[in-house]
Amino acid sequence: MPDQYAVIGNPIAHSKSPAIHAEFARQTAQDLEYGRILGSLEDFAGDVRQFISQGGQGLNVTVPFKEQAWALADQRSARAETAGAVNTLIRLEDGRLRGDNTDGVGLVRDLSANHGFDFGGARVLLLGAGGASRGVLLPLLETGLAELVIANRTAAKAVDLAALGARLGPVTGCGLDALADKRFDLIINATSAGLSDTVPAIPDDGLRPGGWTYDMLYGDQPTAFCRWGQDHGASRALDGLGMLVEQAAESFWLWRGVRPETTGVIKGLRGAS
Ligand code: ATR
Repeated sequence: MPDQYAVIGNPIAHSKSPAIHAEFARQTAQDLEYGRILGSLEDFAGDVRQFISQGGQGLNVTVPFKEQAWALADQRSARAETAGAVNTLIRLEDGRLRGDNTDGVGLVRDLSANHGFDFGGARVLLLGAGGASRGVLLPLLETGLAELVIANRTAAKAVDLAALGARLGPVTGCGLDALADKRFDLIINATSAGLSDTVPAIPDDGLRPGGWTYDMLYGDQPTAFCRWGQDHGASRALDGLGMLVEQAAESFWLWRGVRPETTGVIKGLRGAS
């Protein structure tokens, strides 16, 4: 029987992960199957244990279970520890589960490897202080950026998240209303405002001319924050589809020890949407 993997979440029907991993497996000639599991809101741990006991080798974990997966893991990577969330579970040889988080490295790779953003010395604004921001904090701070400002509608949450990252790199936290007079080379949107087609209230001149914007959301049409970037002088206004594929590629690497090629997969998804 091929090795078994799956993505677990709730809801899960529209997840692109099975198609992405099927393409990775085809491309690298790995003998595996990758399915989707609608996780039970009452017993996530039971669903994971059942999958593993039936021979499952690894899981991707998505909303709303990433924190529960963190708690379930027997051991965790440093980036999962900082994230407080796990999106990749790896079955070890002794049956224990290792938890990792590939979201942040997915974001950084999409920006730097796929699009050529130079983090060295950059001033970066991260909007939002929820799970999505926390999930990418450590890899962002490891890029060599000059300054990371986390800004949130509820200032105290940004201050708390920055305090968590302060021993790891140059990060501060503030409210959205404290951004006047600041200019950034890159603004990353990790808020959920786009789900209601709005953008966080940030100054019109917050992006330095020719700076970049990145929305961790993606969609068939340009997202609200992509449109904000286009309207405010961004030289690149990217959405999160590349991050989705890159975080999947990192999970695939953790499981299989093989790195799939991603650019063709991103293009294929873009074309299919
Ligand atoms: P996620 O796991 O996606 O990060 P979350 O933990 O609920 O979800 O966090 C959502 C983030 O989006 C928060 O930072 C939230 O700001 P508050 O902490 O002030 O609630 C932010 N957010 C949601 N809607 C927003 C909006 N319309 N404008 C600005 N920020 C918004």
